[in-house]
Amino acid sequence: MKKIIHISDLHFGTEEKKIVDALVHDINSACPDLLIVSGDLTQRAKSEQYIAAAEFLEKINFPQIVVPGNHDISLWNIFRRFFRPLKKFRKYISDEEFPIYKDEEMIIVGINSARSLTIKSGRISIKQIEHLKNIFCGVPEPRFKGVVIHHNLIPSPEVKKHKMLGRSGLFIKELNDCGIDMMFSGHLHKGYSGDVQKFYKDANSIIAAQAGTATSNRVRGEENSYNLIEVKSEETIIKIMRFKNEKYFLDTAKSFKRENF
Ligand SMILES: [Fe+2]
Ligand SMILES: [Fe+2]
Repeated sequence: MKKIIHISDLHFGTEEKKIVDALVHDINSACPDLLIVSGDLTQRAKSEQYIAAAEFLEKINFPQIVVPGNHDISLWNIFRRFFRPLKKFRKYISDEEFPIYKDEEMIIVGINSARSLTIKSGRISIKQIEHLKNIFCGVPEPRFKGVVIHHNLIPSPEVKKHKMLGRSGLFIKELNDCGIDMMFSGHLHKGYSGDVQKFYKDANSIIAAQAGTATSNRVRGEENSYNLIEVKSEETIIKIMRFKNEKYFLDTAKSFKRENF
């Protein structure tokens, strides 16, 4: 079994210290094979917020895939927004355009969906889709394959009209035949999961794991949460861990059959 901890929307600058401490403790105690951070590490892409996010990540000594979110692009500095949107992310967090984790059982790749032209919405480019196809399509099926991207691919269960990642239809269609198992996202500050088949006619089973905000006070109708994901040979279990009464506890667990196994 492989263990993944999936956190998102940390929004340093609006973080709750006691929740950050509890999260560091939980992650280091769980000894995950991989930590995934699906974007919005900062509230306003300020240097001090990036430094706090980097210090948090340094406390975790496990492999990491970290991608930016829309809040990680400078909002007010117009020159930086359009010409060097991820300058600070690249300086403080990661300079990898396609961060990748690979072992004998899993292959997971991160990708940036934040764009300078839109403040909230995200998009994937044709070049990024081609790059992911080149990575995944040659890899034999039994390996667990995942993509980390900030913007959501499915709406939350209670709000059906959430805007989805731009070009998500093409993205799902093109990657479907490569046997992708899971998409890891955030952005909506809600923890839930579901099969993309319900929303994309060209899809076979690909599970979308959505993580809530792990550490920020920018909650949207639910407590802070993160996902503890167990990848087994025939099923994947997504456990939502929620912060209540000074610590994270198991809220819900959902099992998905491994269709590509
Ligand atoms: Fe966010
Ligand atoms: Fe976001």
